[in-house]
Amino acid sequence: MQIADRRADVTKKLFIKTYGCQMNVYDSDRMAHALAHHGYEPAESPDDADLVILNTCHIREKAAEKVFSELGRLRQLRDSRKRRTGRDMLLGVAGCVAQAEGELLVERAPFVDIVVGPQAYHRLPELLARRARETGAVIDTDFPAESKFDELPQDLAAGGVSAFLTIQEGCDKFCTFCVVPYTRGAEQSRPVADILREAGALVATGARELTLLGQNVNAFHGESPDGTIWNLARLIRQLAEIPGLERIRYTTSHPRDMDADLIRVHGEVPQLMPFLHLPVQSGSDRVLEAMNRKYTADDYRRVVDALRAARPDLALSSDFIVGFPGETEEDFEATLALVRDVGFAQAFSFKYSARPGTPAAGMRKQVAEPVKAERLRVLQELLEAQAASFNAACVGRTLPVLLERPGRHPGQLVGRTPYLQAVHVAAGEGLGIGDLVPVTITECHPHSLAGVTVTLQAMAQKEAHA
Ligand code: 5AD
Ligand code: SF4
Repeated sequence: MQIADRRADVTKKLFIKTYGCQMNVYDSDRMAHALAHHGYEPAESPDDADLVILNTCHIREKAAEKVFSELGRLRQLRDSRKRRTGRDMLLGVAGCVAQAEGELLVERAPFVDIVVGPQAYHRLPELLARRARETGAVIDTDFPAESKFDELPQDLAAGGVSAFLTIQEGCDKFCTFCVVPYTRGAEQSRPVADILREAGALVATGARELTLLGQNVNAFHGESPDGTIWNLARLIRQLAEIPGLERIRYTTSHPRDMDADLIRVHGEVPQLMPFLHLPVQSGSDRVLEAMNRKYTADDYRRVVDALRAARPDLALSSDFIVGFPGETEEDFEATLALVRDVGFAQAFSFKYSARPGTPAAGMRKQVAEPVKAERLRVLQELLEAQAASFNAACVGRTLPVLLERPGRHPGQLVGRTPYLQAVHVAAGEGLGIGDLVPVTITECHPHSLAGVTVTLQAMAQKEAHA
């Protein structure tokens, strides 16, 4: 500990590159914050860093392989800088590749200094101190008994207008394609009091929107101060009481945990945004069973119907996997049929990627690469057309927009609609970041919308009539 404390006297520079999901974004922020307590300031780029951490994703082969090519580049950068200036650089790998590969990662990339899993990163200062004493890489891929949330510094750094808050981690569902139960461990919910404290602190430092994070967030079952267990519905109702918190979202959900109480909350809590990411993966019952998803395509349709009955303006987003082992043309057609039936405002779709150690990787009848590629193309064409028509239908509507950052042009701000679409807003005077304003959508582009605030529009109309 002494060594770590002494380091606080010297300012060092830290660069974290984040891959993968929103939970990694949250984790990167927490790592940066913990290291700030030990003298690390943010660096603009790896060129200017004393410590570079890759916070990695193991979900598909492509994501995992990227890490090794990036490590190769960083090693070159480190060596050439050291030759030129004598300044050294430590290389760390955090996240799910670190967890999954551990020792193997160091075998493949022996120049790495620190390997730390997602449940052990609160120990980073300690690991850095050990690295300074020892030769060779320091590896920590434990699932420690202590919770990292208790060990991390409690004084949160000011976040943005829209902040993430991890409430649940890990997964016990064991879908046959997925590495998450192995890399993030068993499902665990944070205690309610901790979540409420963190939410209050985030709102006090300017957050107007909170996205509750978890690999299985709607399986949340956190202990409350009186010992009772709260579900996600109960937690959302309580969070909605925080003054100044305008928007609540949660991600990622499993269709099986979309219970009646949670569906009801969508109709009852206005702060809960009418946009839900609910991964279905496939529309074929046979494939869903082989995936161990434990629902049928019709179960999913029924959940969507119930959600839309509770909140008629709800829009949906989803994840899809094509080319799961054994997927036939007919199975794939069933996925297309489900997409046509449900209609998605947004979606992510992937070719099945065999992950070492998961049951599906060993299944017979793996689908050939060109077949996967063709199915992905067809599915994405349909999903992109649905997203485009959803966005186009927003033109002419007036939507509440939360202003998050300055735009490129003077007087312009960028915000988000309830459906997470980015909107470039001609805001006019008196408006600023953090304001929630009605905006009339005037244009639709491939990745964003444009609009004008209702007040500015009314002024322009008055002038036109004068
Ligand atoms: N291959 C392809 N896609 C996968 N996903 C998870 N594991 C795999 C895999 N082995 C996708 C799922 C999940 C999203 C986060 O990533 O669609 O919902
Ligand atoms: Fe992976 Fe399935 Fe758990 Fe989601 S529910 S994290 S896909 S095992």
